[in-house]
Amino acid sequence: MDPLNYWAIAERDIEIQNPITDRKLRLLSDYCDIRDGLSVLDIGCGKAWLMRQWAEQHAIEGVGIDINARFLEVARRKSPAKGRLTFHNAAVKGFPVAVESHDVVLCLGASFALGEPPDALEWMARVTKPGGTMVLGDMVLKHPPAVPKGDILPPDTVGMMGVVERHGAEVSATISASEADFERYASHHRHATLTWARENPDHPDHAAVLRKSREDWMYYQRTIRPMLGWTIFVGRKKG
Ligand SMILES: C[S@@+](CC[C@H](N)C(=O)[O-])C[C@H]1O[C@@H](n2cnc3c(N)ncnc32)[C@H](O)[C@@H]1O
Repeated sequence: MDPLNYWAIAERDIEIQNPITDRKLRLLSDYCDIRDGLSVLDIGCGKAWLMRQWAEQHAIEGVGIDINARFLEVARRKSPAKGRLTFHNAAVKGFPVAVESHDVVLCLGASFALGEPPDALEWMARVTKPGGTMVLGDMVLKHPPAVPKGDILPPDTVGMMGVVERHGAEVSATISASEADFERYASHHRHATLTWARENPDHPDHAAVLRKSREDWMYYQRTIRPMLGWTIFVGRKKG
């Protein structure tokens, strides 16, 4: 099964492809001081809900990069009222982006496309203008396991702030998904994949989709719900 097809199925009903709600994401407009004339780069933009909202209200120049053409079809569907958005269907690693070229660099739920969070932050710091804003949304450790298991767990929010700060940016705001937000996101995936499987019993990927859906659902119930959270870190690059 092509993983891009799996995610197109799992996320077919949602436009915000991370656990944060629209109300909380709107806070980023203030935290990033979004205004006319800013250049915004969105790595792993998916359907680019946030950048599209900004481009409705402000004359920004936005660039989105995503490997999944199906998500970009949604991102491109409607021209925004004020901003101009360009989308590239490509892998972010190796994609040419000029040094210190963007005022705001977003990476929401896509750091894995560049490696671990420090790799993503290094890449983001390189392409962010001095004084610009880097926004990383990622998994964080909420409660360490009582008995350590084999899973590789992410840093907690304090640890992640240290990682952002070591990459030359001061963390000026954080926004976190609640347990209910994350449950809604995981349930969307589970519901959409089970519905698709009922509608497509003869599809060659039927068994593989159900297998991955169950694995992800149980990972959410066993590991994410008790131990992990999801937080957006807003970092202001020095200079
Ligand atoms: C969890 S989704 C987040 C989407 C969007 N940033 C949001 O928060 O709504 C992760 C996104 O990263 C994209 N992606 C995965 N690997 C990638 C890569 N190597 N290069 C670019 N995008 C990638 C996926 O297609 C997907 O759209």
